[in-house]
Amino acid sequence: MQQTLPPGIERVLITAEELADANRRMAAAIAGDYAGQSIVLVGVLKGAVFVTADLARALAEAPGAPTDVQLDFIAVSSYGNAHRSSGEVRLVQDTTHAIEGKHVVIVEDIIDNGHTLHYLRAMLGNRQPASLRAAVLLDKPYHRAVDVTVDYTGLTCPDEFVVGYGLDYQERYRTLPYLAKLRPDVLPA
Ligand code: PRP
Repeated sequence: MQQTLPPGIERVLITAEELADANRRMAAAIAGDYAGQSIVLVGVLKGAVFVTADLARALAEAPGAPTDVQLDFIAVSSYGNAHRSSGEVRLVQDTTHAIEGKHVVIVEDIIDNGHTLHYLRAMLGNRQPASLRAAVLLDKPYHRAVDVTVDYTGLTCPDEFVVGYGLDYQERYRTLPYLAKLRPDVLPA
């Protein structure tokens, strides 16, 4: 049966099932690295709200899962236009707990030019965590401006303006369960 898409959406690029599979693969890799240890997942708001929740639950079911998975969140914003951020990243809301001495995994929905993750790795790395890694569901490698390590990657994202599963356009479309391409005529010229 043909799926009815919301106004402004051109087509589904990555289905909810494919996103769930990617989360399970990342969870298996994380579980392999932290078996028997406690970790803190630091989700980057707002975009990573769904991947953080789904990854955490996939981790609970992964064989050899970490003994304890705690959740924290951080919010940052980057200045830019509708298509691309400028590289200036600003802390909007810090984690609620200190990460010193903890095994920390930053959880991002997407990496594009890389400035956001670069900023977060530097800032959180300065706080003496026991270890610091990054899990990114969607890698958009086409416009990388800074070199930044991603330890766990879910899927490669097409070079399109994508929305859904946490990703927005002007705060819309975040709650779509799949990743979709926005219709080009919705974007400013
Ligand atoms: C998005 C995404 C990442 C960042 C990646 O956040 O959630 O945090 O952009 O882009 P970059 O690699 O080019 O820096 P955004 O700034 O759109 O905020 P949001 O998560 O609140 O939507």
